[in-house]
Amino acid sequence: MRIRVDAERLRRDFDALAAIGGTPAEGVERIALTPAHLEARAWFLHRAADAGLETSVDAAGNHSAILRGAPGAQTLLLGSHLDTVPNGGRYDGALGVVAALEVLRAVREARLELPVTLEAIDFTDEEGALVGLLGSFAVAGTLDARMLAAPRGGREALVAGLARAGLDEARLADARRDPGSLMGYLELHIEQGPVLEQGGFQIGVVAAIVGSRSFELAFDGTAAHAGTTPMHARRDAGLGAATYVERVYETVTGEFGGCVATVGRIELEPGAFNVVPGRARVSLEFRAGSNDELERLERRLLDEAGAVAREHSLGLDVRPVGRWQPTPLDATVRVAIAGAAGRLGLSTLELPSGAGHDAQALAQVTPSGVIFVPSTGGLSHQPGEHTPWDDCVNGANVLLHAALELALR
Ligand code: GLV
Ligand code: MN
Ligand code: MN
Repeated sequence: MRIRVDAERLRRDFDALAAIGGTPAEGVERIALTPAHLEARAWFLHRAADAGLETSVDAAGNHSAILRGAPGAQTLLLGSHLDTVPNGGRYDGALGVVAALEVLRAVREARLELPVTLEAIDFTDEEGALVGLLGSFAVAGTLDARMLAAPRGGREALVAGLARAGLDEARLADARRDPGSLMGYLELHIEQGPVLEQGGFQIGVVAAIVGSRSFELAFDGTAAHAGTTPMHARRDAGLGAATYVERVYETVTGEFGGCVATVGRIELEPGAFNVVPGRARVSLEFRAGSNDELERLERRLLDEAGAVAREHSLGLDVRPVGRWQPTPLDATVRVAIAGAAGRLGLSTLELPSGAGHDAQALAQVTPSGVIFVPSTGGLSHQPGEHTPWDDCVNGANVLLHAALELALR
């Protein structure tokens, strides 16, 4: 089929979206459910309505543009997320959402009558500033009460964000879709790593998505005067945190090849030049391809935190705040993606994803797949994130043709 996305229109949308929450360094900051994120979501619905598409917002705040198939038809979801990490880039999530919208417009303009409903969906809080995969877990029916009770971003941020978005916490789970109503889920995303670029591949077909677990640790010492408290007499929570970061690196590099762990935030309290820190709050996240490795990592890294606390005479508090399952992606969808790329004359590589995606929530209930395009220098989660525009257009066309293949099977 000759049908293609409109590359110019896609570019205009991509640039307009990047300006919402744009940062001076040409990055983007749209933390989930902050005003910039809500503005981007409103923009998305406007663009969908301008194109004559139906729009909707569900109980978890997921925003959708819909192109209806025959009455009673199943829905093929195409999507990603419009939220970003703090000081993030223009491509992560955004590309997948504008490409999904463009696919619906292209199909509508070509007057293709499909036996499925196509829905371009922007999922709530993929990045985990609040809960992580909140919207896609809700659609999959796997949002559990513990995630909401102890969210990664803390209760205060979650409650405030839901209030800003006009969402009711008690009703988030109502966003669940009957799996029988879904035909599948496709997501276009930047790779966020160096593999495609280094290998000279145009399209990545994601075989599986890594699993991750997140913990909030607190080392407790004694806040004390920085001038009068001798070095040997301190219970310095900051020293505990610093020692722990080093132990995390040693443990993972020494014992868990192929796995990763990150301490992405340390907060020292009270946080002053002249006070020995009484408390250090440390965020720990680790990722692995299997549940077995995640279990072993969890045991080792938490044991290590206990050892550090004992060595420095500190208290330790540990709270689990996030859990994403390692997820293989559907074989039929992978074949559809690779076939679409092949017909478009694009080279492909099958590879795993070290980044999390909404597809890992959807894959629990419907056949799901992820299409990658190369990331320049492998950079992501920072303003320098970049993908050559031709690759973005290629990815959008693969999304279109993989969707058609699944829809017309
Ligand atoms: C999402 O981008 C993640 O992998 O953290
Ligand atoms: Mn993403
Ligand atoms: Mn991300």
